[in-house]
Amino acid sequence: MAETGSPLLVASVLPADLAELGRAVQEIEKAGVDRIQWDVMDGRFVPNITFGPDVIAACRDRVDLGFEAHLMVEDPDPMLSRWVDAGCGIVIVHAEATRHLHRTLGRIRDLGARAGVALNPATPLAAVEHVLDQVDLLLVMTVNPGFGGQAYLAGMEPKIAAARSEIDRRGLAVELEVDGGIGPATIAGVARAGARVFCAGSALFSGPGTMFDRAAGMRAAAAEGIA
Ligand code: DX5
Repeated sequence: MAETGSPLLVASVLPADLAELGRAVQEIEKAGVDRIQWDVMDGRFVPNITFGPDVIAACRDRVDLGFEAHLMVEDPDPMLSRWVDAGCGIVIVHAEATRHLHRTLGRIRDLGARAGVALNPATPLAAVEHVLDQVDLLLVMTVNPGFGGQAYLAGMEPKIAAARSEIDRRGLAVELEVDGGIGPATIAGVARAGARVFCAGSALFSGPGTMFDRAAGMRAAAAEGIA
């Protein structure tokens, strides 16, 4: 849990060599990252298609790191158990993707996983006001979902700050995660706004030095932003 001051770094596998995912997750673990995010896309909720549960399951035993499934899919309910069975300890659904969000989040917890809810850039924090006490994680998207390597939307920082103060005001143990365009140039700002969990893809897989160097640099910049 990262609701205290310490930053958590989550690696998106989206920019990895998709022909070598087993090796990629081991590289991420060696780099000292805290968790792995699987960007699941169905070609309907977002204009892209990525991994199914069998791909995630195939990588499960390669590492000890926790897996989170970021479900960028329409109507996630029918397949919720598949992501948990594949080895994801956290399942994140989009508030915009299910008609009965409160029930969907309860179903994730009933399956024994931690429940997360994600907000697209245009979706207000108010959309999750009545379920914030039903989740373990709130993911604020800082890009429009569907692809890695997009530019960070700094306009999301007021939403992140509002989420931080609402979580703190209500004394909730909810991790506040951000995802999209997170890298050395943006991580301190989003940490200052109140994020504690930072999902990065491109900035981890490419840039100066090793992935370990890049992860350590971002973690230090996030800690500075939090302080
Ligand atoms: C968007 C994806 C990306 C990915 C990270 O749908 O969710 O945000 O995780 O991509 P980068 O870090 O390359 O922006």
